[in-house]
Amino acid sequence: MFEAGIYRKLVLVFLAIVAVVQVLKLYHIFAVRSQPPAGAIRDLTWGDINFLHTTDTHGWYSGHLNQKSYNANWGDFISFATRLKQIAAANGQDLLLVDSGDRHDGNGLSDITIPNGIASTPIFIQQDYDILTIGNHELYVWENSVQEYETVVPHFKEKYVCSNVEFKLPNGTFVPFGQKYRFFQTPNQKLNVLTFGFLFDFNRNNDGTKVTSIKDVVDNESWFQEALESHPPEKVDLIVVVGHVPISHKWPELFYLHEKLREKYPETKIQYFGGHSHIRDFTVFDEKSTALQSGRYCETVGWASINMKDDNVRNIRERYSRSYIDFNLNSFLHHANFTDNKDQFDTEKGLEVSTLIKKTRKKLELNRPLGYVNDNYYVDYVPVWDKKNIFNLLTTKILTTLQPENSNITVAEERIIIINTGSIRYDLYKGPYTIDTQYIVSPFENQWHKLSLPKSVAVKVGRKLNENSYILANTEQGMKQIDNRQLAPPHQLLMPYEELLSMEKRQDIFKYPIALNNDDKIAIESKHRAKLPKGYVTYDDFGHDGDDTPHKAVVNYPVPNVVESKQLNKSTSGDTIIDLVFYDFITPNILWALKELNYHITESSEFYSNQYLGLLMNEYVKESGI
Ligand SMILES: *[C@@H]1O[C@H](CO)[C@@H](O)[C@H](O)[C@H]1NC(C)=O
Ligand SMILES: *[C@@H]1O[C@H](CO)[C@@H](O)[C@H](O)[C@H]1NC(C)=O
Ligand SMILES: *[C@@H]1O[C@H](CO)[C@@H](O)[C@H](O)[C@H]1NC(C)=O
Ligand SMILES: *[C@@H]1O[C@H](CO)[C@@H](O)[C@H](O)[C@H]1NC(C)=O
Ligand SMILES: *[C@@H]1O[C@H](CO)[C@@H](O)[C@H](O)[C@H]1NC(C)=O
Ligand SMILES: [Zn+2]
Ligand SMILES: [Zn+2]
Repeated sequence: MFEAGIYRKLVLVFLAIVAVVQVLKLYHIFAVRSQPPAGAIRDLTWGDINFLHTTDTHGWYSGHLNQKSYNANWGDFISFATRLKQIAAANGQDLLLVDSGDRHDGNGLSDITIPNGIASTPIFIQQDYDILTIGNHELYVWENSVQEYETVVPHFKEKYVCSNVEFKLPNGTFVPFGQKYRFFQTPNQKLNVLTFGFLFDFNRNNDGTKVTSIKDVVDNESWFQEALESHPPEKVDLIVVVGHVPISHKWPELFYLHEKLREKYPETKIQYFGGHSHIRDFTVFDEKSTALQSGRYCETVGWASINMKDDNVRNIRERYSRSYIDFNLNSFLHHANFTDNKDQFDTEKGLEVSTLIKKTRKKLELNRPLGYVNDNYYVDYVPVWDKKNIFNLLTTKILTTLQPENSNITVAEERIIIINTGSIRYDLYKGPYTIDTQYIVSPFENQWHKLSLPKSVAVKVGRKLNENSYILANTEQGMKQIDNRQLAPPHQLLMPYEELLSMEKRQDIFKYPIALNNDDKIAIESKHRAKLPKGYVTYDDFGHDGDDTPHKAVVNYPVPNVVESKQLNKSTSGDTIIDLVFYDFITPNILWALKELNYHITESSEFYSNQYLGLLMNEYVKESGI
């Protein structure tokens, strides 16, 4: 037993320890809080000519209502661009706005209307772009191409530049969307700029349009040669190529173009803008040429600047700069230098557009809740087998609710449903589930089709489609090329196949867009880590200081091309005929896989249901909640 005195002393010592711990905790809190959260924004580097770049906006003009990092809307972006143009003008510099296409498919604002885009396009065109071009999502359905030709092109006139995509007039003549190229002078620096606009070699366009590959244009089309001949290097200060093409070193198309341009213009500065693969990226083509790609879904405004004077420029980093601006008000205010007078930031037009967005959302009832989501479900922040993975949710719970449309459709006892992972566009976030959510997560309105196949064959189809992730398959003559990588989400497009194979073993952080080495990881996970917002940590040819806001890196796990919901009976034999159900959109891939498996089908696929993924999800949320 302790004597009373000792006991008292022990209590005092104990209390003293508690007090010290508390003080340390407070100290820790203050130490943490005293790190300026907004001060973390990296400044832009201005040059003689500067660019704001967007790509793959896919209708996200309302901003991200559930994500603070991307909370600015299109009206804020308009105010931002105006403010930066004022800074440029005051300093005698130029600022050009550039967009790389893909403005449909991905958000209720663009996709709930018929035709798709009828409400969102009038909002998009309020931004005062200087150069813009077309994406593949303007070319799947004819109505969208018509809208592009009849609304967007006339609005921007000569600023719409498209070198390899054409529109078919009612009399059968093909004409370019906008101009095939443009030569103009910038307002402040009086720089002579030659501009081209290119789409990647896309072959699923509607019949009312025509895409010629970059290679064919460069090699065969006389207008291109003539454009180069009539603009000799001494008359061109800068070449700008706006592309809906990935700028990655792994994607050869722009590099092919670059080689040809360099033959004619060995010394001219060239700036490329890319898109389509939905990532932040920046590549160095050579000492006088770089490329910028600015993400997706109004998460990013890309920034590029060029110092045009060659004196005193020692290396490429002194000539070119790049930044990836988080699409939020805090970043916009910072770069526009309005942090101290926020209330004066908005321009009249910016406010008008914000109001237009609000009104449009109301009219379309985009905020009407259908149910509630109790957790976050991710496309690739967790592995596909994880409970919080959206594909796991789909294959185990939601796809199983799919029913044939009519009772006269014959069904087998067993079934495999295959979906391409690209049919899911975005994460499903905790909170109210609205019509907008449906379009954000899965905007595509496809029909389900089915084939009756022996089970032994059907079970191999998914595996085949995933195996072929990096190979371009040539099909029979006349048939379009099959590229199974296109089945996966665009931002995973350039993922090496080996990483997919070893997917189940991976627990480590995975590149975005290239692997973090240990030092980097330690740097990122250092003392600042806990309070940094989660987001992009972009590795590009200039390093990893491009993101305007330092983030805690998100982990992107590889996603296969397709996932399957298997409703099979282990006791039946491989000869048993079962249903293989899939979106008609991927029919060419399914047929390709069957051919690869040496299975000859005798009948074409049958219609199964119109209940596309978005509708299945809606029903599921209403009935069960998630
Ligand atoms: C088709 O129509 C366009 C625009 O009206 C015209 O310029 C073109 O000459 C026509 N082509 C033919 C083959 O009639
Ligand atoms: C382009 O030229 C090559 C070689 O002359 C030829 O093989 C190819 O068919 C041409 N392509 C087009 C679209 O004219
Ligand atoms: C930012 O704005 C303040 C006035 O609000 C001005 O004094 C300052 O010079 C500006 N900074 C820059 C870098 O333009
Ligand atoms: C199946 O039933 C639907 C109506 O429920 C009908 O429209 C369709 O023609 C029928 N199909 C066949 C093959 O009988
Ligand atoms: C699975 O198949 C066996 C053999 O045909 C059959 O007896 C059994 O009822 C089936 N199970 C289910 C769940 O359909
Ligand atoms: Zn896109
Ligand atoms: Zn695209």
